[in-house]
Parts: sequence; structure tokens; C-alpha cells
Amino acid sequence: MPSTLITHIKCLVNTRETSGILYGNALAELPCINNAWLLVEDDEIAAFGSMNNMPLNTAETLNVSGQFVLPAWCDSHTHLVFAASREEEFVDKIKGLSYAEIAANGGGILNSAQKLNETSEDELFARAWQRLDEVRKLGTGAIEIKSGYGLTVEGELKMLRVVKKLKEKSTLHIRSTFLGAHTYPLPYKNNHTGYIDQIIDEMLPVIATEKLADYIDVFCEKDFFSPEETEKICRAGMQYGLKPKLHVNQLNSIGGIETGLQLNALSLDHLETMTDQDIALVGDASRNGNWKGICTLLPTAAFFLRMSYQPARKLINAGCAIALATDYNPGSSPGGNMNFVVSLACIQMKMLPEEAINAATLNGAYAMGLGDTLGSITPGKKANLIFTRPISSLAYLPYAFSTNCINRVMIAGEFIS
Ligand code: NIG
Ligand code: FE
Repeated sequence: MPSTLITHIKCLVNTRETSGILYGNALAELPCINNAWLLVEDDEIAAFGSMNNMPLNTAETLNVSGQFVLPAWCDSHTHLVFAASREEEFVDKIKGLSYAEIAANGGGILNSAQKLNETSEDELFARAWQRLDEVRKLGTGAIEIKSGYGLTVEGELKMLRVVKKLKEKSTLHIRSTFLGAHTYPLPYKNNHTGYIDQIIDEMLPVIATEKLADYIDVFCEKDFFSPEETEKICRAGMQYGLKPKLHVNQLNSIGGIETGLQLNALSLDHLETMTDQDIALVGDASRNGNWKGICTLLPTAAFFLRMSYQPARKLINAGCAIALATDYNPGSSPGGNMNFVVSLACIQMKMLPEEAINAATLNGAYAMGLGDTLGSITPGKKANLIFTRPISSLAYLPYAFSTNCINRVMIAGEFIS
């Protein structure tokens, strides 16, 4: 692959010689270089600087005058593999049913599980591939994908094998999470131990042998998995080297935060329903270094379910590290557009554009274990880049919430659009 010297960049965003997770106030610091150059060698960022002192170079030159260049989005929480959409439940919600009521009537996750178990692995792959193609054109360069719509040994393994195939075939960075504990399948509605045994004795050993997952997740929620059940399942996964990334405090505060901190989860995700005590717990643990994890906020899930938005400002003030992700799934967030997530974070959660961009790039990368490879313009990191159309300022990106500001996307050193 030839080297490319990108010149006359109006603003090169998130430039860092070294990087780490951004906690609390550090989230607002977004280093940028106006009128910049960037050298891409093979699939990596080689060097960058100001046009005022650009080194002589024989690389092919690309003048992108007027454009902003950002690290591609790192979407650290999705359920991208699913069989079918669920717009009939969307209409039920308009008529007044709640997410929990729909789930209790056999809709929701169980509805998706039935459809998934009726769909072949090849067909699932084709549908997921199409979604992946859609989101990479929207600027996503790395993505985490969960299982959790199988809820049978066969179905869960099928989903994870689809994710493995996506990893092999796509140039995007993909991380895989086992979410067998998404809900109890109907035959185990009154036999929780039976299903947990199946997860631990029949799913996890195969997942470990075939290296089908990087992380383990549990939907820790009232009427789903209790904190004790969550802990048991996670500890079993941890025996195989799977670190927890957890669904907690989406609908209720039932102790998932305490459990996640005890398990040293890589990320605690959702957090729509946080008590002051929950915020103090994650804040204290983040500030005193007892917890080096990330709070992953999913504003499009709150938007779609008409819930209160996640308390981003309180979490930042408490010293937490925030990542933003789409939660792309057919039930609570049927879209994978990180540009809209960044806009919603600014509009509804009052995150500053700088904070939202850091949360959707660098902290997102760390929330899926890819912080050393992606998420900032740093020498040696992968050249996953967004090139904007000519725009007036960085704040224009979240401000113009329904305008496509992306001109081109580069993944692993190659333009894909
Ligand atoms: O993250 N809340 C749990 N899981 C998904 C939704 C799953 C579904 O409704 O299909 C979420 O919102
Ligand atoms: Fe989710």
C-alpha cells in the first residue's frame, strides 16, 4: 500500500503523541491542529504536524483543503447481529405499551430470539454485513458486537460464529461479546438455575475453545438477571479470560453498579436510571483509581424508548470516564449512526462537542480494549479516519444533527467511500 501525505487539513482533530482513558474534566480537552498535514503509511498513522513545517516527502499527496479530519468513530456497544426489525413493537409503544410490558408479553428480546433461531447462519451473516457496510460509511471504524438473541446453545454459538466471520472478512476492528444472559428463554422462565447452568457448562466452554468472544455481558435488570446471577455468570466467564462489559441501570437501579465495580468490569453500559448513590459509587471508584473502567452511555436508546437521558454531566463532574455508543439493536435503538449519537449527547445530555467527540473516539476505543490501536491521531495507531465536507467549525458536526457532514471515510489506510 503506498504512503499518502494528506495536506491542507483545515483542522486535524484529537492529535495526541500518546493516549490513555480520559476521566472527568480531561474529556473536555480535545487537542487539534489547524492547517495540518498527516502522513499515512500502509494502514497506520505515521506522523502529523502543522503545514508551517511540513517535512519533504516523496509520498503521494492529497490536498483536502477546507476539510476536518477526525479519528473514525469507535462504537463500543452494539447488537448488530439480528434477524429482523421489530417495528410492530414500535407501533405498540406509540399506542402506550412500555418496553417492560412488551417484554413481559413475549415480545422484545424473545421475539428477536425466535426469529434468529429460524434464520440460517449465512443469512444472518448477510444481514449483519449489510449493516456493517452502512455504519462504516457513517464513519464507524471499530465496533463491538454482542450475542444474546440466540438464548439456546446452538443460537448463541451461531451468532458468535457470525461475528467471528465478520471479523475475518471486514477491515473494521470488531470485538465480540457473549451475552447469553440477555433474558431467560421461555422454557427456563421458572428455572433460572437451569439456564445459568447451560450458559456456564454448555456455552462458555465451546466459546472459549473456538475463541468466539472477547468479553462477557449480562443484562442486570429487574425481571431479567439479578446482581447475584450477574456475578455468577461473569465469574464463570472470567475463568476463561472474558472481562465483563455489563448492561446495568437501564430501567431500574438494583445493585448492578456495585456488582460491576466488584467485578472490575471494563465498562458499565446504559445508566439511564442512576441514583445519587450510584453516581457517587462510580465517581469515587474512578477518581481514586479503584476502577479503571468506563461508563458507556447510549443516548439513542433513551431517545427511542422516551426515557430520561443518562446523567452525563453528573458523571463527568464525579470524575468518570464516559464513552458514547449506539446500542444498535432492533428493540431499543434501531440504528447505528454515531453522528446522531454525538449530536444527542450534546443536545440532550449537555456534553460539549469536545467531550462528545472524545467519548465517541478515544474512550470508545478503550471501552472495547482497542485504545492502544485506535481512537486518536497518534503515530502507530491505525489510519481509520473521517474526512468531513467543508464545515465552519467542529461544533457544526453535532449542531447540524441531520446533515451528513462526512465526505469520505478511510479504514486501515484505504478510502472505503
Ligand atoms: O441494550 N436492554 C437490553 N438489551 C438491548 C435491547 C434488546 C432488545 O430490545 O432487543 C439494549 O437496549
Ligand atoms: Fe445493549
